[in-house]
Amino acid sequence: MIQCWRLDDARQTLVLGVRDKQLAEAIYWGPRLPDSENLETLYAIHGIDVAGGMLDQHPELSICPAATRTFQGQPGMALRDTAGKPLLPKLAFESVEAKTDALSLTYTDKYIGLTYRAHFAIDPDTHLISMSAELESEHPINLQWLAAPVLPAPQLSDEMIDFAGRWCSEFQMNRTPWSAGMRTRDNRTGRTGHEHFPGLIVPCRGTTNTQGAAYGFHYGWSGGHKMVAEELPDGRRQIQFGNASDTELTPLTHFKTAPLFATYSGTGLNGCATAFQRHLRDRVVTWPHPDRPRPVHYNCWEAIYFDHKIPELQEIATRAASLGAERFVLDDGWFGKRDDDTTSLGDWFIDTRKYPDGLTPLIDHIHGLGMTFGIWFEPEMINPDSDTYRAHPNWALGDEDQILGRHQKVLNMALPAVRDYLFDRIAKVLTDYDIDYVKWDHNRVLPTPDADQTRGTYALLDRLRTAFPQVEVESCASGGGRIDFGIMEHTQRVWLSDSNDALERLKIQHNAALFLPQCVTGSHVGPRVCHTSGRILDIRFRAWVAAQRHMGFEMDPRELTDDEADVLRRVTGWWKDNRDWMRRADILRLDAADPAVLAEQHLHQDQFVVFAGKADTSTQIAPRPLRLTELDANATYRVDLANRDELTRKALSRGQSPLKTNAIKVSGQYLMHHGITLPWSFPETMWVIEGHKI
Ligand code: GLA
Repeated sequence: MIQCWRLDDARQTLVLGVRDKQLAEAIYWGPRLPDSENLETLYAIHGIDVAGGMLDQHPELSICPAATRTFQGQPGMALRDTAGKPLLPKLAFESVEAKTDALSLTYTDKYIGLTYRAHFAIDPDTHLISMSAELESEHPINLQWLAAPVLPAPQLSDEMIDFAGRWCSEFQMNRTPWSAGMRTRDNRTGRTGHEHFPGLIVPCRGTTNTQGAAYGFHYGWSGGHKMVAEELPDGRRQIQFGNASDTELTPLTHFKTAPLFATYSGTGLNGCATAFQRHLRDRVVTWPHPDRPRPVHYNCWEAIYFDHKIPELQEIATRAASLGAERFVLDDGWFGKRDDDTTSLGDWFIDTRKYPDGLTPLIDHIHGLGMTFGIWFEPEMINPDSDTYRAHPNWALGDEDQILGRHQKVLNMALPAVRDYLFDRIAKVLTDYDIDYVKWDHNRVLPTPDADQTRGTYALLDRLRTAFPQVEVESCASGGGRIDFGIMEHTQRVWLSDSNDALERLKIQHNAALFLPQCVTGSHVGPRVCHTSGRILDIRFRAWVAAQRHMGFEMDPRELTDDEADVLRRVTGWWKDNRDWMRRADILRLDAADPAVLAEQHLHQDQFVVFAGKADTSTQIAPRPLRLTELDANATYRVDLANRDELTRKALSRGQSPLKTNAIKVSGQYLMHHGITLPWSFPETMWVIEGHKI
């Protein structure tokens, strides 16, 4: 007997089929099929031929490929009993629950006493398919590996794109050609990590940012993921995602993967990007005040580091407010005896040497300026040099003689006593003071990866959210070390990178836009001399790069010249005027003809802004036209330069382009096919182009 089910939205169809009691297979995933399609016919014809040297029938490339079906690739699960003997389940179809937008399939192995469930749900508005797998066992078992439901990868694809990175250089795109065998990413850091953003895009041949077909995947888990992209000997390809292997350290009777989010796009990488951006913004993140405009941040880290002096902080706050800041975030250094990074993590008591009357004098000053107040914690960490560690050395994970990271150890978040202590300490600060924001840091990897740690952190965040629903949380881990849809269920912003170098930031945020919308992505104007690269960049470029995302400042505002302060005030004013629609916009990466230009178009209904960043020196002498995307071909757009005032600084631009003096009116078709010809510009500058449909 054959059974088939389909999940559809306007852009895609996923068809699952099963014969008799076997595990289901995804037999079609791509552009939406006609309603009249006969799924049983698809099932009958989806198989590939059998030739010499092969088994007599191909083992199913199922949602959980089974070793017991002579499957020659990576199986969907790896289990052992408590004596260490491998368990090889033979799962048989038990039941199905099918709704219009969701499907759950249940399988059992009665001999081992195992139930496997696969869940699928499609979101018709965001176009993401969410999938997870669950295991229930009658006896405690050891889990080495459990994949979220497995999907096939396209054949007409020559490469895959996954993500690497490092401190101050997150979201580097890795392109790897498909070849026989597996590409595996198994993240052993115990956190999402700069190095291992859990995403994958499989573009079909010829796909660019704006056109072609692509399949996007993201695994929503903060404890480190494993990805397998495998080409089998028969040419079929599979994609598996799950928690990093061997991160369940004790035998259990119930396991569940985090959600795997996937989408098919027929509109290039941007189709994947918009699905992820919208889903994260509209489904994953919950906002304490959904209608409150995103406030401009001021974060004092790169201004003062550990050197907290109330009068200086007050002066900095006054200047930040005059530039347009609306939220002041007090960073590391306010607690314990934290004069440098060797001490006091865990001692979440206000340092009365620095704040003899508590935080009130500072907070009152900040509130008096009309700003709200946020504060930094690194709850999951402890310095051996802290009163808390001296009292509870057994609260830390790992061996006594382990290698430290930034002089610190990791607290065991699975221990209720640890979570209670942290809850009490954080709650005390949030209760004693009027605080609307917590920057939540995580500055080292785990001594060994452990899924309990992530569950413990989520539980603490949940408890704090319930007790303080008005407080927003930022996920920071030395910059972008913990960015994923799992942590974003509990937080509202990410600190994308510790690099405030606008040139680096331009690249990092451009790639991160494949997954992250504007409203959650923090971006700050840093000091004139960048502290992590030594680069000196003009304030205009620094300001516009920050204005591409959730804007903030992090320099000491006392270093700004009058001209710099004016520019910053002006760009911040522009950002405030535009932030509400930009928050809802799609970020579309443009296919710039000039590789020196990194350009993106933020589009919401009839309005757009293009940020064309000059990341390098161009090879050719004159700028090439920049093509826009996703406009209404037959409509006319009014297109204007938002930063025309910067033309005077582009000394070598001598031509008579109309855009240099006026707005232009052209069709969407022209903008998408020919593109805008921009004035010549220096490297490390940005053109900002606004467009409205008229
Ligand atoms: C990490 C963060 C920074 C800052 C410091 C404070 O490096 O990424 O933004 O908060 O910690 O120690």
